[in-house]
Amino acid sequence: MSQQTVPQPKGDFLLGNFRQLAPDPFPALCRWHADYGDLTGFKIGRQQFYLVSHPHLLEDALIKQADVFIKLYSSGKPKGLELVLGQGLVTSKGELWQNQRQLMQPVFQRKNLGALLPQIVRSGEELLERWRLLGDGAEVNLAGEMMRVTLEVITQTMFGASVLDKVERIAPALNTALRFATRSLMSPVAIPLSWPTRSNREFKRAMAILDETIYGIIGRRSELTADNQNLLDMLLQAHDPHTGKAMNARQLRDEVITIFSAGHETTSNLLTWTLYLLAKHPAILGKLRQEIDAFTDDGLLEAVAANTLTYTKAVLNESMRLRPPVGVMLRKISRDTEIGGYALKANSLAVFSIYNIHHHQDFWSDPEQFIPERFFSTDSRRYAFVPFGAGERICIGNNFALLESQLLLAMILRHYDFELLNPAEAQIEMIVSIRPKGGVPARLRRRRW
Ligand code: HEM
Repeated sequence: MSQQTVPQPKGDFLLGNFRQLAPDPFPALCRWHADYGDLTGFKIGRQQFYLVSHPHLLEDALIKQADVFIKLYSSGKPKGLELVLGQGLVTSKGELWQNQRQLMQPVFQRKNLGALLPQIVRSGEELLERWRLLGDGAEVNLAGEMMRVTLEVITQTMFGASVLDKVERIAPALNTALRFATRSLMSPVAIPLSWPTRSNREFKRAMAILDETIYGIIGRRSELTADNQNLLDMLLQAHDPHTGKAMNARQLRDEVITIFSAGHETTSNLLTWTLYLLAKHPAILGKLRQEIDAFTDDGLLEAVAANTLTYTKAVLNESMRLRPPVGVMLRKISRDTEIGGYALKANSLAVFSIYNIHHHQDFWSDPEQFIPERFFSTDSRRYAFVPFGAGERICIGNNFALLESQLLLAMILRHYDFELLNPAEAQIEMIVSIRPKGGVPARLRRRRW
């Protein structure tokens, strides 16, 4: 079959398309999709990238050629998320990834998640109690509030720990680290971490705070004899099937910081966007409340466990379609290949835009509108709805995230209404995850107690 040439926006001789992308990558990736189509090339310096914005091209790559489209990890020159997460489950590849995924999978199986629901309820109750103490009419930033509660959920359920007393330090540190990681991928020249630039120093300070938190969680746990086993106990007790050796300290740190970050940042953004969208769409909020208010608090927990909150799930799905918490996925192309009749070069990087796919006109009517009911249709959406990724690297925490967000959303909406304090549309910022720029300032209005 003759191969077609991938269209590419014009760029500078030396910097490629860096100038178009650098100020804010998110609008550039949307614009290139609109202007150049479902597969677009672009360059940063000499590095060739491909932007993939069509479900079938994603399937061609991540399902049919998973061995060609691989994670980036290279131990000599860590870049992007690896700078923060090392070789944890999100970034590792090959045999290491396979063994670690197999080891952790049981914790995330649906049948084992029910046992974690009471802890999620406790964290939700803590949030509601905090808001009660702030008083009716208090002004909060919903992004910060959702980050607190999801951080408490992930550390309690997975590691039997709480870091709420350090949240004021952890949140900005994680933010700085993720921003640095995103920028490192978009820089046309690689500045060594050992150089004393301002941003290198800021990054190192942020990583010191995160590492102190993570080693603190690991250290405290390894001193305890825990009665109920969580993910961290499992990692601490694991032995290599070939050598019989326990997991080394660095690997343990990488797995824990991976679950710590991937396990709350994403769910926090999902809940923040959902509360924002519901405040903008009172009729949908009313319909959702009809479903939620029919239950007592205990009944709600049972309904989530039994997977029967149909409208709540449709609202969360539609929120993830419109504002996918993870906007793009990145892979390295390990050898010359083709997708959809287009030739792609070895050592290029492929950017799969979940956002563009979720807004694709051929698969979604009125893609910019918030319409939960579209999830009741039986239309085939093969790879057109991929908030958790696709193929062998699909999110390990997808079922956990859905249970957690249903439960927290329902608990919050039973007790509170929100008035948005900023009437303008929330702007999108992409720092690995897709979040509302400046968060979502809102006034809390108590419904009942
Ligand atoms: C709404 C919430 C979430 C969203 C939208 C989400 C999204 C994603 C996506 C898109 C990927 C694939 C990345 C890629 O292929 O490059 C992924 C992977 C992953 N996620 Fe999530 N995630 C969520 C919640 C969670 C939670 C709660 C956890 C842990 C408790 C988690 C842990 C992970 C891990 C460890 C991976 C890597 C899996 C692997 O490569 O084997 N995620 N997630």
